[in-house]
Amino acid sequence: MGRSILEIDEVMMEYPSSDGPVTALERVSLAIGEGDFVCLVGPSGCGKTTLLRIIAGFVLPTAGQVRLDGEPILGPDYQRGVVFQHPALYPWLTVQANVEFGPKMRGLPSARRRELAEHHLRMVRLWDFRTKTPYELSGGMQQRVAIARVLANDPRILLMDEPFGALDALTREHLQEELLKIWKATGKTVFFITHSVEEACYLATTIFVMSARPGRILASIEAPFSRQAATQDSRAVKSSPEFVALREQVLRYIWETES
Ligand SMILES: Nc1ncnc2c1ncn2[C@@H]1O[C@H](COP(=O)(O)OP(=O)(O)O)[C@@H](O)[C@H]1O
Ligand SMILES: [Mg+2]
Repeated sequence: MGRSILEIDEVMMEYPSSDGPVTALERVSLAIGEGDFVCLVGPSGCGKTTLLRIIAGFVLPTAGQVRLDGEPILGPDYQRGVVFQHPALYPWLTVQANVEFGPKMRGLPSARRRELAEHHLRMVRLWDFRTKTPYELSGGMQQRVAIARVLANDPRILLMDEPFGALDALTREHLQEELLKIWKATGKTVFFITHSVEEACYLATTIFVMSARPGRILASIEAPFSRQAATQDSRAVKSSPEFVALREQVLRYIWETES
């Protein structure tokens, strides 16, 4: 792990409910290094989205602390760019205006905004679609716009909550490869939640496995595949004996937590 950029320290989260408080997270601690691609996997309802919302600054934990570059996270900020399962694009704005929205809010001049939009839309291969509105694009293309929009803010960390979960299998594989290329080109740190153990093994440098609710970190597993040369065909990687062994190792942790 490189220099740590994000530190999660003994974070606990309780939600109020009619039957008393529900503990969603129980003393979660982890550190993320600069440039890491961290994948968080765990059974449904274990608190993954809760943890992401805390890192984003949308909610404060009941106890514990999260720090970015040593500073406590106390509210939302463009330093943490969030990509959701369903892209939260402005339907009335063009693709380009969606990407320019963050830089505009930050008060950047229009020439700089246009430059940022062009750079990031070219990165996700959608510059030719800049005058379209989101509903004229496929789900996969919308998700690429959402990624470009977040990157245009030059965040310290990219937070992604099952971003490819609603896409068909082929589009999902293409976007996985595309995201790896972007990660390598930008050197960004990524925190990525997924249900798919295969996706986690393919993308991650570190996989964190969470237990069933109340969520705790059960294991931290290093994965070598995303740092390998990008020239390999992804199906060949995913069917290699080394990959299958890692996938089974992660699955065993999840089965144990669910049983
Ligand atoms: N705003 C909320 N109010 C009350 N309970 C919540 C709220 N958000 C999540 N929960 C509960 O906390 C637990 C963890 O939810 P969540 O973080 O969404 O899990 P995951 O993303 O792993 O599926 C679940 O039991 C869920 O019902
Ligand atoms: Mg979730």
